[in-house]
Amino acid sequence: MANLSTKYLGLDLRNPMIVGSCGLTSTVTDIVALEKAGAGAVVLKSIFEEEILMEMEHEVSAAESDGYDAKAFDYYDYKIKDKNLSAYVKLIEETKAAVSIPVIASINCVSAHEWPYFAKKIETAGADALELNIFALPTNFNKSSADNEQLYFEVAEKIKEHVSIPVSLKISPYSANLGPFIQKLSETGIAGLVLFNRFWSPDFDIENFALIASHVLSREDELALSLRWIAIMSERVSCDLSASTGVHDASSAIKQILAGADAVQIVSALYKNGKEHLQTILDEMNAWMDKHDFKSIDDFRGKMSQAKSEDPAMYERVQFMRFFRGTEH
Ligand SMILES: Cc1cc2nc3c(=O)[nH]c(=O)nc-3n(C[C@H](O)[C@H](O)[C@H](O)COP(=O)(O)O)c2cc1C
Repeated sequence: MANLSTKYLGLDLRNPMIVGSCGLTSTVTDIVALEKAGAGAVVLKSIFEEEILMEMEHEVSAAESDGYDAKAFDYYDYKIKDKNLSAYVKLIEETKAAVSIPVIASINCVSAHEWPYFAKKIETAGADALELNIFALPTNFNKSSADNEQLYFEVAEKIKEHVSIPVSLKISPYSANLGPFIQKLSETGIAGLVLFNRFWSPDFDIENFALIASHVLSREDELALSLRWIAIMSERVSCDLSASTGVHDASSAIKQILAGADAVQIVSALYKNGKEHLQTILDEMNAWMDKHDFKSIDDFRGKMSQAKSEDPAMYERVQFMRFFRGTEH
C-alpha cells in the first residue's frame, strides 16, 4: 500500500485530494461525510464579497423605503457584514471541531478593500489556511491588462498585513501574460496558487431569447488547460500549486501530480458521482502507484513537468500542424 500523504500550504494532508470550494463544503454534515469518503482537505464554500454587497444594497433600499435616511448606510453595512461573517465563523468553528483534516476557508474577492475585515476573523475562528478567489471580468475599457493584474498583487501584499495563516490565490487563466504573471505572483510571499478557477458563464436559449447558465459542472476534457499550465509552471514558481478544473477520476488526478501539482482539487465529479467517488479515486491512485512501484507522492510528483520533459516544446505547441495539413484525422 503506497503512502499518499503530502504537504500543501505547509499543512499535512493524508492524501493530495482536496474538495474544492462549492456547495458540498458549506455544511458541517457534508464536510464530515467528505472526510469519511477520504478527502485530504476541504476548501469551504466562499464567502462572497459581491454577495455581501448585493445583500447590503437590498437591505439599504428596503430600509430607505421604510423611511430611513441613507446616511444610516454605514450601520447597515456593518450589520450585514457581521451577520454573514458570524455564520461563516460559526461554520469554521464547528467544522474544525468535527473533522481532523485541514479546513481551508475561502473568500471570493473582487477588490482589495472588503476582505481584510473578514480575513482576520477567519484566522481567529481557526481556519488552517485561506484561499482567496480573485477575478474581476476585464470589462472596464479604461483599464489596461497591467491595471487588472495589479489587483492580484495588491491582494497578495495586503493579506500579509492581516493574517499569519497560509494564503493561496485561486486565479483565472485570463491573463495577457500568464506565465510571467503566475511566476511573479508566486514570489509575493503567498503560500500557494490554485490553477484555475472556472466561471459561471452565460449561454443563450435561442427559442425564448433568454440568458441561461452554461454548464455549471465541468467536463473531463476541461482538464487540459490546467494540466498544461501546472506542467509549465511547476518548476518555475516559488509557492505550492494546486490543480483545479476537470479532475474527474484517478487518472486525471495522477496526471496533475505528474505535471507537478502539490494538491488536486475536485468538485464537479463529486456532484456527478457522489462523495464516495473520492474513495474510488484514492483506491485507484493507490493501485496505480503500486503498479509503478511508487512508494510516495514525491516519487512521481513533477515527473512529467515541462522542465523534466525531453520535448519541452510540446507543452507550448498550440497548433494542430498535422491535422491542419490534412494528413491525419
Ligand atoms: C455548484 C458550485 C459552486 C461553487 N462555488 C464556489 C465558491 O463558492 N468559491 C469558489 O472559489 N469556487 C466555487 N466553485 C468552483 C469550484 O471550486 C471549482 O473551481 C470548479 O468547479 C472547477 O473544478 P471542477 O472541474 O472539479 O468542478 C463552485 C463550483 C460549483 C460547481
